[in-house]
Amino acid sequence: MKLKIVEKPVKHLVVEDFLSKEEMALCLEELKNLQDYFHDGYWFDEINGSHVNHNIKKCLNIDPYYYYMEKKNESYILREIIGKKLWSKELRDFYDSAGSDSIFSYMNETDFDQAVIAGFRDGDFYNWHRDLGVTTANIMLSNIEGFKGGDFVLSNRCGLGENERIIGDNFETITYEYKPGMAIIFPARFQHKVTKTETINDDIENIRFTLQSRCYVTNF
Ligand SMILES: [Fe+2]
Repeated sequence: MKLKIVEKPVKHLVVEDFLSKEEMALCLEELKNLQDYFHDGYWFDEINGSHVNHNIKKCLNIDPYYYYMEKKNESYILREIIGKKLWSKELRDFYDSAGSDSIFSYMNETDFDQAVIAGFRDGDFYNWHRDLGVTTANIMLSNIEGFKGGDFVLSNRCGLGENERIIGDNFETITYEYKPGMAIIFPARFQHKVTKTETINDDIENIRFTLQSRCYVTNF
């Protein structure tokens, strides 16, 4: 795999060829069986008194753990991609190579993950927000053509609301165009967004899917 550590605007990891075409096809095949469990993302707009004050979301979500409950071994996505590939020896070593004081090395000691599949249809987007957990791995699942936008943008601004601050001298961002099979692993507390997606229709093969794995520590 092509493994890259990117320092700016905040340290993150990029694996351009994380999934092969065959692996992506197997993931999408599974998604076709999960369509009944998709639900619309939530809209948050100026919720007073909440740290979540500029979180606007429009996309499709599914929590595959919820669907599979106690039978997660029946899921190719959970068993092979989230359960094994993300934690192969090569990738665990890569996380450590980002520095023993980095959050990526710390990933190797997390013991719980939350997987979310997000689907962006025509007009869908997700404005600036942060994720829960320690790190998020954002894996691009679809091999679609003829769509625009849907860029992933990562910034050096962390926190939300009154705790919001920039780490560094100036606000900086990096933009990644959607690239099938690519994985970006970033510290979840830094704000990021997905720009408006334009697709030719909302058929499942034309939805811009990402698989996200969020790591937590629960075992004290
Ligand atoms: Fe996110």
